[in-house]
Amino acid sequence: MLKGIIPYAHYLLKQTIQPGDYVVDATCGNGNDTLLLANLVGESGHVYSFDIQNQAIETTKALLKANDLHHVTYIHDSHARVDQYIPIDLHGKISGAIFNLGYLPRSDKQVITKGDSTIAAINALLTYLKKGALIVVVIYFGHEGGMDEKDAVLQYAQQLDQKLYAVLQYQFINQKNNPPFIVAIEKK
Ligand SMILES: C[S@@+](CC[C@H](N)C(=O)[O-])C[C@H]1O[C@@H](n2cnc3c(N)ncnc32)[C@H](O)[C@@H]1O
Repeated sequence: MLKGIIPYAHYLLKQTIQPGDYVVDATCGNGNDTLLLANLVGESGHVYSFDIQNQAIETTKALLKANDLHHVTYIHDSHARVDQYIPIDLHGKISGAIFNLGYLPRSDKQVITKGDSTIAAINALLTYLKKGALIVVVIYFGHEGGMDEKDAVLQYAQQLDQKLYAVLQYQFINQKNNPPFIVAIEKK
């Protein structure tokens, strides 16, 4: 009955995102989340998909092309610079964003998301959210450097004003080996 971490992250996005919406995949990696988002928003919506690795951008592009989905802007840059790429007229209009932290599976484990840029991106994205919108952050922290990012993101999320945001932590607390967990931020 309890959903696993990725199924629950996707469940949250499915509950929030409608056809025609504007959404962000902050870490496209192999493209699985971009694919979900593109299907949820449909041809009338749009996905902004970030990654600092060209390999991730190309893999995601190929996956979306294979699924005949074209309403995606691919951004080969850090999500920390989100405000350079998402038009200012989308302020208050983004309905969802997802971060999958850590490293690209089956790739260079040295290229990881980091607390400073993750928090800069979340902070910028909060200004883009419409009422009821959600940022879903899947936090992997078993790798080198992961613990620092986890602590920084949790500390940041815990101090968000409860009058403006509802912040959820979804985590299995009896699993071994630092399993991933979710922090979800809803704009009230
Ligand atoms: C866990 S993977 C993402 C998995 C992906 N969501 C999927 O469905 O396959 C994390 C990704 O974050 C990317 N990344 C690391 N730092 C980044 C940054 N500052 N901005 C954007 N992407 C970043 C990595 O290159 C890697 O591809």
